[in-house]
Amino acid sequence: MLLTFLSLLCLSTYSMSLELKVITVATEETDGFKRFMKSAAYYGISVEIVGMGEEWKGGDIQRYPGGGFKLNLLKPVLEKWRERKDLVVMFVDSYDVIFAANSEKILEKFKDFRTNLVFSAEQFCWPDQSLASRYPKVGLGKRFLCSGGYIGYASQMYSIITDSEISDTDDDQLFYTKIYLDPHKRDKYGMRLDHRSHIFQNLNGAEDEIDLHVTSNESYATNTLYNTRAAILHGNGGSKNFLNFLGNYIPNQYNVDEGCLHCSEGLHELPEDSSKWPTVFVGLFVMSPTPFLREAILKSLSELNYPKNLIHLWVYNKNSYHEDLLSKWSDEVKSEYASVQYTGSYRDITEIEARTTAMKESLSKKSDYYLMLDSTGVFDDPDALRKLITLNKHVIAPILGRPDKYWTNFWGSIAKDGFYARSRDYFVIVESKRKGIWNVPFISTAILFEGEWLLKRSTDAKGLPSFASEEFEPDMALCQWMRNNGHFMYVSNLQKYGHLISTSNYEIHHLHNDIYNIFENRQEWEKKYLHENYSVALNAGPDDISQPCTDVYWFPLLSPAYTKEIIEELEKFGKWSNGENDDPRLDGGYENVPTRDIHMNQVGFEKQWLDILAKYVVPIQIKVFPGYYSRARADLNFVVKYHPQGQPDLRPHHDSSTFTINVALTRPGIDHQGGGCRFVRQNCSVVDTKLGWALMHPGRLTHYHEGLPTTSGTRYIMVSFVDP
Ligand SMILES: *[C@@H]1O[C@H](CO)[C@@H](O)[C@H](O)[C@H]1NC(C)=O
Ligand SMILES: *[C@@H]1O[C@H](CO)[C@@H](O)[C@H](O)[C@H]1NC(C)=O
Ligand SMILES: *[C@@H]1O[C@H](CO)[C@@H](O)[C@H](O)[C@H]1NC(C)=O
Repeated sequence: MLLTFLSLLCLSTYSMSLELKVITVATEETDGFKRFMKSAAYYGISVEIVGMGEEWKGGDIQRYPGGGFKLNLLKPVLEKWRERKDLVVMFVDSYDVIFAANSEKILEKFKDFRTNLVFSAEQFCWPDQSLASRYPKVGLGKRFLCSGGYIGYASQMYSIITDSEISDTDDDQLFYTKIYLDPHKRDKYGMRLDHRSHIFQNLNGAEDEIDLHVTSNESYATNTLYNTRAAILHGNGGSKNFLNFLGNYIPNQYNVDEGCLHCSEGLHELPEDSSKWPTVFVGLFVMSPTPFLREAILKSLSELNYPKNLIHLWVYNKNSYHEDLLSKWSDEVKSEYASVQYTGSYRDITEIEARTTAMKESLSKKSDYYLMLDSTGVFDDPDALRKLITLNKHVIAPILGRPDKYWTNFWGSIAKDGFYARSRDYFVIVESKRKGIWNVPFISTAILFEGEWLLKRSTDAKGLPSFASEEFEPDMALCQWMRNNGHFMYVSNLQKYGHLISTSNYEIHHLHNDIYNIFENRQEWEKKYLHENYSVALNAGPDDISQPCTDVYWFPLLSPAYTKEIIEELEKFGKWSNGENDDPRLDGGYENVPTRDIHMNQVGFEKQWLDILAKYVVPIQIKVFPGYYSRARADLNFVVKYHPQGQPDLRPHHDSSTFTINVALTRPGIDHQGGGCRFVRQNCSVVDTKLGWALMHPGRLTHYHEGLPTTSGTRYIMVSFVDP
């Protein structure tokens, strides 16, 4: 009898024109709350907010049941509305909810249920798992009630919420579950679950069911299991990061044709007069030996287009390796910045203490922004700092990546164990196929905090962001703190801001360590060690490569820094051979035309040298000796030291090579007198050798040659017999 009555009621209201009211409980304007309100505004949905500014009394619902407080806040509002027959009320959480449809669509979906109250459903039975078996079985769909979203007629909503008393710290989900599991009450209230996410998509445990569609004019999420497109996306339980991912697109945040649709909202444009720009506190953290420290991070900091008198510099160096450079540099730049403070490696301060101290210092200096910068982050765009400030986020990092790699300073997703996981859009973001400002669960290396936001944190109960964690390193601990406290972290790839230095495989036992670092940081290596005019040769036509003697070519290859450092490295090693025929370093133990030299493998530089051959020499060889494809193989790679009192010259000989490379590491007329290479058959000498230039000539047959006497000073050449 009761059932029939209910269906009649539903049928009668089905034709009535209905109004939707959305109600939520929020005590704080968290980032998630603001996102919720923005998505509501996008669909023209107005929201009744209950509890704002009140102290939360529902317990810690991140970890424990609770939330009765929510219901007690809702009661008086629902009481007001209970008489309105045309009113449909939807309750949703707000910190972890996004609207994905408008009121008409929501009402239409609700009416399709032909019942009074629809609760969202999820895969987990919470908070009392022992109740699971008492739930009615469902064929296809989620079985268990979730109280993060429900919708129903105002009168029934009021009736169910007042079904019995609930205390603030009781669990609201358990409250509704118990009603639902009572068949009599279930029928009385006309209560159903949205098993297949027609209205509510709870994301916890359902991530694999969700497809994100990014089309030319919109982005939306569908459930592929149920073929539904929900109106409400709820990042319940452990699915907050997944919701954040969806929230980068929905609603109307990104589409293919227009790209990022929110990226030009609320920008903080700086005035033309740069003396009026915000003050920035830069905490520079040198945590481990960092290749190219001076050429990369220090240079890029110095070259920022930002008034230095508005920047406070705070440098923390953990490693004695950089002590000299950093303490000197800090001193040198002292007068340029608003202030400079250096904390050296001799100070017994942990990373956590250092990072915390810098953040507090930034507050005490009342800085408008705090940039936490690691020595591995390099700005290539001198306007990077200003542009980041313009984006006007509480916490944001520029995407920095290792050149030509997928390694960057952000994670698109996070695994259950708290470590890296790949988001579905990680590659397209790193490749800049999608450009925007992205809400992500982990950022590092160059993080810009808004000073006002930090100040607010400092007066919060939770305090300033924390770098301490039992499980994680400080960078991960910080992001965990941010996530746990509902603070969004953004990265921008609206443009390229800079790149990352790799510290892996950095050998620091050499005299000049960076020269060895060709594989890990090629971009820096090339800038420092490749001849500045190498690219001219590389881009020249074959006829434009100069030919001092027949079939002898030469071109700029290595920089003055290279020639200087490799000589110093070898002299430090010092074990020059004695220039005699017996040579234990060779396979046969015998050298027909011996020189006083050091082999590259004796100083651990062979891999690097072979790479130089393959990457920089072979492309030029192919131009001038076309049709020959070198394997860039060379067993003998060495530096010869010519000196009047040692070995001044070398008698005529053929090289056992297909072609030979001979790089001048010193300057005739300055570092030494005399010297040069004479090609006997060609009756042609090259004596005016140029620093860092490579001479390239055929070996073996046609280019019988000799080393001309060095009459004073020391002449060094780097020789390689390619494809012996
Ligand atoms: C996008 O285009 C499709 C197909 O033309 C259309 O059905 C849909 O309504 C459009 N969406 C928006 C948000 O304009
Ligand atoms: C590179 O070429 C330019 C133009 O010819 C010249 O001025 C400059 O000195 C060259 N650089 C070096 C290191 O030789
Ligand atoms: C070699 O060259 C020199 C000067 O360029 C010239 O004087 C000499 O005659 C040449 N010798 C031969 C054998 O061609």
